[in-house]
Amino acid sequence: MKQKKLLYTGKAKSVYHTDVKGTLIVEFRDDITAFDGGKKDTLMNKGGYNAGVSAFFFSCLEENGVKTHFLEMLDEKRMVVRELSMIPLEVIVRNFAAGSIVRNYPFKEGSPLKPPVIVIDYKDDSRHDPMLNDDLIIALRLVTPPELKRIKTIALRVNALLSGLLAKEGITLVDFKLEFGRQGKTIYLGDEISMDSMRLWDKKTGESLDKDVYRFNKGDVMATYQVVAARITKKQKSGAAKKAVAAPKNSKKRAR
Ligand code: C5P
Repeated sequence: MKQKKLLYTGKAKSVYHTDVKGTLIVEFRDDITAFDGGKKDTLMNKGGYNAGVSAFFFSCLEENGVKTHFLEMLDEKRMVVRELSMIPLEVIVRNFAAGSIVRNYPFKEGSPLKPPVIVIDYKDDSRHDPMLNDDLIIALRLVTPPELKRIKTIALRVNALLSGLLAKEGITLVDFKLEFGRQGKTIYLGDEISMDSMRLWDKKTGESLDKDVYRFNKGDVMATYQVVAARITKKQKSGAAKKAVAAPKNSKKRAR
């Protein structure tokens, strides 16, 4: 497969055309951003860790009947995917209160949300991704009512599968964001599922194992990503890297 012209550059990924109809190449770059692009850095190997974890999750989901855009990895950072017509929704599933819902509503950080709460934002940087509700989603004609129902069903299925998978590695899936797209009439899971798009807490220590380490300067971001990627995909490497996450700088035990 040959990589062709650049189609789109996002904050942390670039998407390219290929010589195979109906496919694209997603390159996971080493760029990391937070706070609507207000904080930016380039961290060596970050793209590879996120690509590896995304590929792993997409494969597990496919094995469990969830349709995703993932086809194969070309190398550590480049993923071949189905070309989708993306739906501008950010579908967030929350199992515990953290992040923006703690800032915006009277939830106590770490309190369980049972059943899980689905929040859907309008993906539009110029509007700062405002929160939608079902009526707005339908009025904006972003999806049809049956598609919205389907998207929520898939999001909850992904939540159940990934929560179970991560629990086995001693990790709590606090929340995560999904994006969907269509190929024909079929809805596929697109984008990525990685440390950039999930909130993960170590079950024993409560430490953050995700982009919150970068957002809030909680420790060595790349040491965390390296160990979490290895822990999730079970490719444990050096003992030193393991230690780096076991005791990140400024870490606080989270009461839960
Ligand atoms: O910031 P907030 O608490 O709403 O984020 C909820 C979850 O969705 C977090 O895991 C965060 O990393 C993810 N998210 C994302 N991309 C966004 C907004 C949120 O991956 N644009």
